[in-house]
Amino acid sequence: MSFLVDHLNYEEDVTLTKLRQDRSYTYEDEITCSKECLLNYEEKLKNFYTEHLHTDEEIRLVLDGSGYFDVRDKDDQWIRIEVKAGDLIIIPSGIYHRFTLNSNNYVKAKRYFVGEPVWLPYNRPADDMECRKMYLARLEKSFEEVLLI
Ligand SMILES: [Fe+2]
Repeated sequence: MSFLVDHLNYEEDVTLTKLRQDRSYTYEDEITCSKECLLNYEEKLKNFYTEHLHTDEEIRLVLDGSGYFDVRDKDDQWIRIEVKAGDLIIIPSGIYHRFTLNSNNYVKAKRYFVGEPVWLPYNRPADDMECRKMYLARLEKSFEEVLLI
Protein backbone atom coordinates (compact mmCIF):
# COMPACT_ATOMS: atom_id res chain seq x y z
CA MET A 1 0.00 0.00 0.00
CA SER A 2 1.13 3.53 -0.58
CA PHE A 3 -0.16 6.95 0.43
CA LEU A 4 0.69 10.59 -0.21
CA VAL A 5 1.65 12.62 2.84
CA ASP A 6 2.61 16.28 3.26
CA HIS A 7 6.26 15.51 4.04
CA LEU A 8 7.07 19.12 4.95
CA ASN A 9 4.37 19.13 7.62
CA TYR A 10 3.92 15.43 8.31
CA GLU A 11 3.12 15.83 12.02
CA GLU A 12 -0.08 17.64 11.01
CA ASP A 13 -0.92 15.39 8.06
CA VAL A 14 -4.41 13.88 8.39
CA THR A 15 -3.59 10.74 6.35
CA LEU A 16 -0.53 9.96 8.45
CA THR A 17 -2.31 10.70 11.73
CA LYS A 18 -5.16 8.36 10.80
CA LEU A 19 -2.78 5.60 9.65
CA ARG A 20 -0.81 5.83 12.88
CA GLN A 21 -3.98 5.57 14.93
CA ASP A 22 -5.67 2.85 12.87
CA ARG A 23 -2.55 0.66 12.72
CA SER A 24 -1.32 1.44 16.26
CA TYR A 25 2.12 2.70 15.28
CA THR A 26 3.72 3.62 18.59
CA TYR A 27 7.38 3.89 17.58
CA GLU A 28 8.97 6.32 15.14
CA ASP A 29 12.45 7.38 14.15
CA GLU A 30 14.30 8.74 11.15
CA ILE A 31 16.89 7.11 8.92
CA THR A 32 19.16 8.73 6.38
CA CYS A 33 20.76 6.47 3.79
CA SER A 34 23.83 8.11 2.35
CA LYS A 35 27.57 7.47 2.38
CA GLU A 36 28.02 10.23 4.94
CA CYS A 37 25.16 9.36 7.32
CA LEU A 38 24.88 5.61 7.40
CA LEU A 39 27.41 3.54 9.30
CA ASN A 40 28.68 0.58 7.21
CA TYR A 41 26.92 2.13 4.19
CA GLU A 42 28.06 -0.41 1.55
CA GLU A 43 27.19 -3.41 3.71
CA LYS A 44 23.80 -1.97 4.75
CA LEU A 45 22.89 -1.20 1.14
CA LYS A 46 23.86 -4.72 0.17
CA ASN A 47 21.62 -6.11 2.93
CA PHE A 48 18.71 -3.84 1.94
CA TYR A 49 19.01 -5.11 -1.65
CA THR A 50 19.09 -8.78 -0.67
CA GLU A 51 15.64 -10.31 -1.12
CA HIS A 52 14.06 -10.73 2.32
CA LEU A 53 10.90 -10.53 4.39
CA HIS A 54 9.97 -9.38 7.89
CA THR A 55 7.63 -10.66 10.59
CA ASP A 56 6.14 -7.13 10.81
CA GLU A 57 5.13 -4.41 8.38
CA GLU A 58 7.88 -2.18 7.02
CA ILE A 59 6.59 1.40 7.02
CA ARG A 60 8.51 4.26 5.41
CA LEU A 61 7.60 7.89 4.83
CA VAL A 62 10.11 9.52 2.51
CA LEU A 63 11.03 13.03 3.64
CA ASP A 64 13.78 13.74 1.12
CA GLY A 65 15.64 11.99 -1.68
CA SER A 66 14.32 8.86 -3.35
CA GLY A 67 14.82 5.15 -3.93
CA TYR A 68 13.18 1.96 -5.10
CA PHE A 69 11.31 -0.78 -3.30
CA ASP A 70 11.02 -4.00 -5.29
CA VAL A 71 8.24 -6.37 -4.26
CA ARG A 72 7.30 -9.78 -5.64
CA ASP A 73 3.89 -10.09 -7.30
CA LYS A 74 1.68 -13.20 -7.17
CA ASP A 75 3.66 -14.73 -10.07
CA ASP A 76 6.93 -14.11 -8.24
CA GLN A 77 7.93 -11.32 -10.63
CA TRP A 78 9.50 -8.10 -9.36
CA ILE A 79 7.44 -4.93 -9.27
CA ARG A 80 9.58 -1.80 -8.87
CA ILE A 81 8.07 1.03 -6.84
CA GLU A 82 9.80 4.39 -6.90
CA VAL A 83 9.48 6.32 -3.66
CA LYS A 84 10.20 10.02 -3.26
CA ALA A 85 9.39 12.84 -0.85
CA GLY A 86 5.82 12.55 0.39
CA ASP A 87 5.41 8.86 -0.41
CA LEU A 88 4.45 6.61 2.46
CA ILE A 89 4.75 2.91 1.72
CA ILE A 90 3.66 -0.08 3.79
CA ILE A 91 5.36 -3.36 2.93
CA PRO A 92 3.24 -6.17 4.44
CA SER A 93 4.79 -8.78 6.71
CA GLY A 94 5.69 -11.95 4.83
CA ILE A 95 6.18 -10.38 1.37
CA TYR A 96 9.56 -10.79 -0.30
CA HIS A 97 11.08 -7.41 -1.09
CA ARG A 98 14.29 -5.40 -1.35
CA PHE A 99 15.31 -1.75 -1.39
CA THR A 100 17.88 0.25 -3.28
CA LEU A 101 18.82 3.85 -3.85
CA ASN A 102 18.93 5.52 -7.25
CA SER A 103 21.91 7.37 -8.71
CA ASN A 104 21.54 10.18 -6.16
CA ASN A 105 22.49 7.72 -3.39
CA TYR A 106 20.40 9.51 -0.83
CA VAL A 107 17.10 9.06 0.97
CA LYS A 108 15.80 10.35 4.28
CA ALA A 109 12.76 8.60 5.71
CA LYS A 110 10.62 8.21 8.80
CA ARG A 111 10.19 4.67 10.11
CA TYR A 112 7.16 3.59 12.11
CA PHE A 113 6.51 0.44 14.09
CA VAL A 114 4.01 -1.21 16.42
CA GLY A 115 5.78 -1.59 19.78
CA GLU A 116 9.53 -2.03 20.11
CA PRO A 117 11.07 -2.03 16.62
CA VAL A 118 12.49 -5.21 15.13
CA TRP A 119 14.33 -4.52 11.89
CA LEU A 120 15.48 -8.12 11.40
CA PRO A 121 15.39 -9.31 7.78
CA TYR A 122 14.91 -12.98 6.88
CA ASN A 123 16.53 -13.64 3.55
CA ARG A 124 14.85 -15.79 0.95
CA PRO A 125 14.09 -18.69 1.23
CA ALA A 126 11.87 -18.15 4.27
CA ASP A 127 8.81 -20.00 2.99
CA ASP A 128 8.28 -21.97 6.20
CA MET A 129 7.86 -18.88 8.33
CA GLU A 130 4.38 -18.28 9.73
CA CYS A 131 4.27 -14.69 8.47
CA ARG A 132 5.03 -15.94 4.93
CA LYS A 133 2.22 -18.49 5.06
CA MET A 134 -0.19 -15.89 6.42
CA TYR A 135 0.79 -13.42 3.69
CA LEU A 136 0.18 -16.03 0.97
CA ALA A 137 -3.20 -16.91 2.53
CA ARG A 138 -4.19 -13.22 2.55
CA LEU A 139 -3.02 -12.86 -1.06
CA GLU A 140 -5.06 -15.89 -2.15
CA LYS A 141 -8.13 -14.59 -0.32
CA SER A 142 -7.87 -11.14 -1.89
CA PHE A 143 -7.72 -12.66 -5.39
CA GLU A 144 -10.78 -14.78 -4.66
CA GLU A 145 -12.63 -11.66 -3.50
CA VAL A 146 -11.63 -9.80 -6.68
CA LEU A 147 -12.83 -12.69 -8.83
CA LEU A 148 -16.21 -12.70 -7.05
CA ILE A 149 -16.87 -9.05 -7.85
FE1 LIG B 1 12.84 -4.88 4.45
